[in-house]
Amino acid sequence: MPDIRTLSAEEARAAIPDLAEVLADCVAGGASVGFMQPYTPEDAEPYWLEVAEAVAGGGSLLLVAELDGRIVGTVQVGAAQMPNQPHRGDLKKLLVHRSARGKGLARLLMEAAEREAATRGKTLLVLDTATGSDAEAIYPRLGWQRVGVIPDYALWPEGGFCDTTLFYKRLG
Ligand SMILES: CC(C)(COP(=O)(O)OP(=O)(O)OC[C@H]1O[C@@H](n2cnc3c(N)ncnc32)[C@H](O)[C@@H]1OP(=O)(O)O)[C@@H](O)C(=O)NCCC(=O)NCCS
Repeated sequence: MPDIRTLSAEEARAAIPDLAEVLADCVAGGASVGFMQPYTPEDAEPYWLEVAEAVAGGGSLLLVAELDGRIVGTVQVGAAQMPNQPHRGDLKKLLVHRSARGKGLARLLMEAAEREAATRGKTLLVLDTATGSDAEAIYPRLGWQRVGVIPDYALWPEGGFCDTTLFYKRLG
């Protein structure tokens, strides 16, 4: 059975090697999640250190999915907004290792992230995702509303422009 947990800053620091494996695997698999190929787990560690610092500062929620004691999936909710947007969270970096896909982990992570965000007073979540990606197909199944497409927003990890699709979800 998968275990879905929200990590403390200390747990986040301890999880960096596993999280780096998951992120590097997703980039190697062609996911447009901020980084370019080639991208090794070592390359990913500074990013996760920044995330752990954001967790420590209360600016981010970090959730993980564990299977057989190993972290194979993760998602974040950016919670540090401007003073006029305290009710909004930014859903980020939904990542599941290729070896663990298709088992419902993304759904479990998203449901837990939404519950956790709601308990912290968030009533609106937003995200963007690469147009045409596996992820784009998933969010409507989880109750997210598609807003539209911004062309040439980012690059695919192997190069070439990538459009992005914006989504939002009201909580509660
Ligand atoms: C997107 C991603 C997180 C999905 O993870 P997953 O654990 O395999 O997804 P799940 O098994 O929980 O599937 C969730 C739902 O989406 C559906 N789904 C999964 N993969 C799908 C695909 N490729 N196309 C269409 N639907 C899909 C499932 O059937 C399931 O629907 P249901 O619960 O209504 O039956 C994973 O493919 C991934 O990490 N991709 C690379 C990183 C990425 O692009 N992240 C998004 C950043 S915004």
